[in-house]
Amino acid sequence: MSGIIARWRDRLPVSERTPIVTLGEGGTPLVRADHVAKAAGLPPDSVHLKLEGLNPTGSFKDRGMALAISKALEDGAEGVLCASTGNTSASAAAYAARAELRCVVFLPKGKVAAGKLSQAVMHGAEIVEVDGNFDQALKMAAEAARLQGFTLVNSSNPFRIEGQKTGAFEIVEALGRAPDNHFIPVGNAGNITAYWKGYTEMGHRPRMFGWQAAGAAPLVRGKPVKDPKTVATAIRIGNPVSWKTAVAARDDSHGMIGSATDAEILAAYRFLAEKEGVFCEPASAAGVAGLFKLAKARKAPSGLTVCVLTGHGLKDPGITARFKPKLRRVKAGGSIKL
Ligand code: F0G
Repeated sequence: MSGIIARWRDRLPVSERTPIVTLGEGGTPLVRADHVAKAAGLPPDSVHLKLEGLNPTGSFKDRGMALAISKALEDGAEGVLCASTGNTSASAAAYAARAELRCVVFLPKGKVAAGKLSQAVMHGAEIVEVDGNFDQALKMAAEAARLQGFTLVNSSNPFRIEGQKTGAFEIVEALGRAPDNHFIPVGNAGNITAYWKGYTEMGHRPRMFGWQAAGAAPLVRGKPVKDPKTVATAIRIGNPVSWKTAVAARDDSHGMIGSATDAEILAAYRFLAEKEGVFCEPASAAGVAGLFKLAKARKAPSGLTVCVLTGHGLKDPGITARFKPKLRRVKAGGSIKL
């Protein structure tokens, strides 16, 4: 069997009694990013990208969801429930469908990218559209889960973190060592928590560099943001659940949590697509935007750097309307000069 549970069984909280729900998640490529390295003034082969958009539903959430849904099934849950900026709901909907569990998703109205919403619809999730932001939706979801016996599969669920830590295992396996620096977007702060857990469980301590969007950067400001704003809707979060563990990862690793503006995030998003041939969603480019930002200030860390690209570009087709295509229109049958 493929998937993160089969691959890392001895490092995950599963037993013979755990029914395994998998879509073959994990095992994503780690590719060299020489164009990124060059643009950042770093040596070739010093920057690698972990392509988490190549997971079954197009984001890293599948690692955590495989375990969270398997454990919910083992525990005899009524159903599962989450609040989401999009990817968690897409992943929960897919894995719950496979496990024949009810799945209810709380989504902030008008702020979920089209690809993610279509996934929730097609996998048959019950959608609750919340006239508010993610933080408000999460509060409602947690309360509903508590009162009605559903399992919450947001990253406050420890099995989500356990599943997601396998990304760190794969990076160490692929490189034959840990990177010196790990760059990662930060929203609800579960993934930075999970990678740090994975690295430390293997005895490694890379510097963790987390990146938030400037309009949604509570960890940088040191206080919650009431009305978070960013084009990177996946990380439009003002009060992250895993606040303390993210700060601990930053401090214990002598890393940092910084912020990048929407313009910087979109520039990195475009650079990755145009120069590296890698199409990720805007939020996923926040780590690379951060690397470019540090490079500009002549503060890019030396050594081996891995940037996690968390979700696929096709998730958010709406955002591409901001970019001008190289397009010519012709009548059928005519000739065209290239
Ligand atoms: N990148 C993408 C593409 C995401 O969807 C998310 C989070 C993050 C980065 C940030 O990860 O929350 O662990 O710090 N998306 C959640 C969701 C909130 O509902 O899909 P984090």
